[in-house]
Amino acid sequence: MTTEALLHENRIFPPDPAFVSQANISGMAAYQALCAEARQDANAFWGRLARENLYWHRPFTRVLDESNPPFLKWFEDGLTNASYNCLDRNLQNGNAKKTALIFEADDGTVSRITYQELYHRVCRFANGLKALGVKKGDRVVIYMPMSIEGVVAMQACARIGATHSVVFGGFSAKSLQERIVDVGASALITADEQRRGGKSMPLKVIVDEALALGSCEALKHVIIYQRTGSAIPLLSGRDHWMHDVEANQPDNCEPEWVSAEHPLFVLYTSGSTGKPKGVQHATGGYLLWAALTMKWAFDIKPADIFWCTADIGWVTGHTYIVYGPLAVGATEIVFEGMPTYPDAGRFWDMIARHRVSVFYTAPTAIRSLIKAANAAPATHPGNYDLSCLRLLGSVGEPINPEAWMWYYKNVGGERCPIVDTFWQTETGGHMITPLPGATPLVPGSCSLPLPGIEVAVVDEAGHDVPNGQGGILVVKRPWPAMIRTIWGDPERFKKSYYPDELKGYYLAGDGAIRDKDTGYFTITGRIDDVLNVSGHRMGTMEIESALVSNPLVAEAAVVGRPDDMTGEAIVAYVVLKQARPVGDEAKKIATDLRNWVSKEIGPIAKPKEIRFGDNLPKTRSGKIMRRLLRVIAKGEDVTQDVSTLENPAILQQLKETL
Ligand code: WT7
Repeated sequence: MTTEALLHENRIFPPDPAFVSQANISGMAAYQALCAEARQDANAFWGRLARENLYWHRPFTRVLDESNPPFLKWFEDGLTNASYNCLDRNLQNGNAKKTALIFEADDGTVSRITYQELYHRVCRFANGLKALGVKKGDRVVIYMPMSIEGVVAMQACARIGATHSVVFGGFSAKSLQERIVDVGASALITADEQRRGGKSMPLKVIVDEALALGSCEALKHVIIYQRTGSAIPLLSGRDHWMHDVEANQPDNCEPEWVSAEHPLFVLYTSGSTGKPKGVQHATGGYLLWAALTMKWAFDIKPADIFWCTADIGWVTGHTYIVYGPLAVGATEIVFEGMPTYPDAGRFWDMIARHRVSVFYTAPTAIRSLIKAANAAPATHPGNYDLSCLRLLGSVGEPINPEAWMWYYKNVGGERCPIVDTFWQTETGGHMITPLPGATPLVPGSCSLPLPGIEVAVVDEAGHDVPNGQGGILVVKRPWPAMIRTIWGDPERFKKSYYPDELKGYYLAGDGAIRDKDTGYFTITGRIDDVLNVSGHRMGTMEIESALVSNPLVAEAAVVGRPDDMTGEAIVAYVVLKQARPVGDEAKKIATDLRNWVSKEIGPIAKPKEIRFGDNLPKTRSGKIMRRLLRVIAKGEDVTQDVSTLENPAILQQLKETL
C-alpha cells in the first residue's frame, strides 16, 4: 500500500441516521461537546469520567499530579482494583448470569462462562496464588495460549495487586527469558501446550528452556494450565498445575485495594534499540480508558456480542479482551485458533454462529482473507449470514482503502461503520478513531482524536505544521491511560517519549498528515527504526542483534519493505565472516539465518528476504545508510546523491536477490 493512495482518498461515508440515533455518542455535536468540555477544564472532565465509570474504594481527591514531568500521576490517592471493577461490579449490576466469555477452541469446541463463574474462578486462582506467596507488587509473567484460563490468570493477578507481564506465546525461549529477567518475575503462568491450526506448540518446554538460560533466580513458581494433557516434565517444588493451585481455595477473595497509580501490568514492546521496552501501565487511568473507549469507539451496549481477534500477548488483547469488555459488562468471544483453520471462512463462520455484533480485527488478517476468498470462493464472507454485525473495527497498521472497501461491503454489508483505531501499546487504548455514530468515514483515515485527546502534527522543533503537510505525530496533553514509565529505565522513558525538542509533547513515533479540508489524520508509518509486520511491532535493531549473534555473521542491517500482505516485510542485508556466498550456498545460509532469527526472537521476526554483501553502504564516518537500503529493498533505483558513501559500488551488489 502506498501513502499516496491513502492521501488521495476522497470517498466519504456519513454515519447512518439509524446508527446515530442509538449511539452512545450520538452525532457530531455530541462529540464536539465532549471535546469542548475537555478543553475547557481537562481535570474536571477526566475526574467526572473516572467517578462515573469506575468503582472507587476510596475516592481520589486530585485528578492529575504534574509536579514531576514527564512522570505524571492520575487519581493517585484513589483506591481501586481492576478485577473488582471487571467482576464484582457485574455481579452487583445484575450481570451474574450473563455470559462473560464464549471460548472457541482451535478444534471448534465451545464453552461459556458467566460473570458469576468467572468471578469464582478468578477468586479461587487469586487465593491459590496468595497461598504460593505471590503478593502485591510482585511481578508475574504469563506465557499462555488464548483461553479462559489466560483471562483468569491476568484478572487474578490484578485482584491481588501483582503486576502481570504477558509474553506472547509466539516468542522464543530467549525472548521469554529476557523479559522474565528484566521484569524480575517471581512466578510464571503457562500451559502444557498451545493448539493452533491443528498443531500443538510446547509452551512448557519453551519455559524450561528459557529458565535454563539462567539469571531467573527470582522465579520461584511455574504454574501450568493443562490444555492438552500431553506428558511434560514437572520440577517438584517449582512446578504446579493450575487446577491444583485453584483446588480447595475459597470462592471469594477480597480484592487488594491499590492506588490508582499501582502498576497493573508491564508489557514489552519494540523500540529503536535492540532491547525491548517494558511499558508500564497504571491501574486507574488505564482501566478508565479501556471502559470509555469500549463505550465510545465500539458503542458497546448490553446486548452486544463483542469479538476482538487479537491475542492476550499484545496490548489489543489486554485492553479489548481482558479489561475493557469485562469493565463494561459485555459478552465477548475468546478464540484460540487462527483465521485460516480449518479454512479461511473461520472468522465469518464464527461471527454467524455466535451472532457477533461488534467485530475488531487487523488489516493484515483482512488482506489474507481477501486473497483466500479469491482463491477459494466458498470461504468468501458472502456465504455466511453476517446480518448480526453492526460495527467493525480495524487496528494495528494503516488499512489500505481497497481492504477497507472490501471489509465494508463484504463483511459489513455496507451497513456497518468501520472504526479504524490508531493507538499504541504506550497509549493504553484508542487515541484517534472515528466515532461510529458521529464521524463521517474516509477509507484509510483514522479520522479524529477521541474527546480529551489532543493530537497534532508538528515539525522537529515541536511547531505545528499546516494541514496537508506531513510531520511528526504528538500528543500535546496528558491522558489517563498514558504509559507511566519504562520498567526499570525512567531515563529511556524520558528520552523515547518526551525528547527535549518537543516541548513536553508525547512523541508517538509515527508520521502523520492532516487533511486540508476535513482535518482528518492519516498515519503515514513509523519514523523510527521500528517495523510493522502483520500488525506486529518489530525493532530492526533487535533483528540485527539476533543476526550478528550467529557465528557466521559479521554485520547486518535490517530494513522494511512495503508488502501487499503483511504491510511491511523484513529485508536483512548480511555480511558474513567468510567470503560472500553465491548460488545454492547463499540460499542455504539464508534459510539457516532465517531459522536462526526465528529461534532467537520468534517466528514473527523471521526476515522475508536475506541479501549478502561484501560490506554495507556506509558514510565515511561509518554510519550505515539505511535510507539507501530501503530504496533498493523495494527494487527501486537509487536517485539520491551517494557521493558521501565510502563504498558506492556496494549498492549494485546488494540489489541482487537470491
Ligand atoms: C503502532 C503501535 C494499537 C494496538 C496494536 C499495535 C501502528 C496501530 C494503527 C492504525 C495506522 C496504526 C502505528 C503505531 N498502528 N494502529 N489504526 N493506523 N497505524 O500496537 O504494537 O504498540 O504498535 O502500530 O505505527 O505506532 P503496537
